Amino acid sequence: MSGIAIMTSGGDAAGMNPAIKAAVDHSRSLGVDPYVVYDGLEGLIDGKIRLASNELTRDMIYRGGTLLRSSRSKRFFEYECRKQAYMHLKERGIDKLVIMGGDGSFRALNDFFNDFEIPFAGIPATIDNDIAGTDYCLGVDTAQNVILNCIDSVRDTARSHHRAFVIETMGRDCGYLAMTTALCSGADICIVPEIPYDLESIYDRLQGAIKEEGSCVIAVVAEGTRVAQYLTRWLTERAGMDTRLTVLGHVQRGGSPTARDRLMGTRFATRAVDALLNDEINKIMVYRDGLYSYATLDSVAGQQYAVNEEIVSLCRGLSR
Ligand code: F6P
Repeated sequence: MSGIAIMTSGGDAAGMNPAIKAAVDHSRSLGVDPYVVYDGLEGLIDGKIRLASNELTRDMIYRGGTLLRSSRSKRFFEYECRKQAYMHLKERGIDKLVIMGGDGSFRALNDFFNDFEIPFAGIPATIDNDIAGTDYCLGVDTAQNVILNCIDSVRDTARSHHRAFVIETMGRDCGYLAMTTALCSGADICIVPEIPYDLESIYDRLQGAIKEEGSCVIAVVAEGTRVAQYLTRWLTERAGMDTRLTVLGHVQRGGSPTARDRLMGTRFATRAVDALLNDEINKIMVYRDGLYSYATLDSVAGQQYAVNEEIVSLCRGLSR
């Protein structure tokens, strides 16, 4: 009897719990023992592995984060630690892994495969939406909705005081979250790593809004630009607006997964289990141009993710 172990790695993302549940349920329905690993790669090294119980998955689908918990492991780069992880899997008869995370996590399991021939299936999961080869990563839709709720709330107070607000979103070096939420919130300014910005032309463009009674200015800035504080000062000093900075931070990673994240998680996870049982090993589940498929690790990890050109061009007008 073979076993599949399911784990989450790197930054948590909404949609991980629905995906864990789907992978457990689907494995079981196919006669494969579903195991879960707690604490990501760190837990794999330390043998925090249990047979998945009904209790674990019963109320899991609506919960944010990952009930398996996660980690960013440095120890997994050491061969001796990987060997320890392998021994824990071997003891339990586990010969396949499903991992949710980013390309660093996929690479780690590829090294593990090269050492011990334990195949894996990867599910892209990060609010940054910065994984090459897929248009969608788990957690993005929930994060976008959390951000939009925050911006809408900020807009209420901004308008009440005729203020400018700079709102910093996460996304590491990728501007996807900032661009999409700037567009969906009707922001006036969007500053992201992908687009050069021009403050003087923003100044000219916003003259109307700055002077108009009862108006406000909303700027969405991606954390990767590192200009949120600078822009706040600039709006105060150059544009003469009473300006506040709101750094959204980790609130963006939380929240109950949206319908989209629940469905994407369910579909990615059942496909991941099917891939492993059909000898499609070491593949990454991807969603591209409206279709699900499997990608090779090399076409995903280490490749540059590029935000959809149409989204970028819609945002250009908000950067100048
Ligand atoms: O990769 C997801 C992410 O939330 C990034 O957007 C952010 O830069 C980073 O993780 C924060 O990492 P940590 O949770 O370790 O502070």
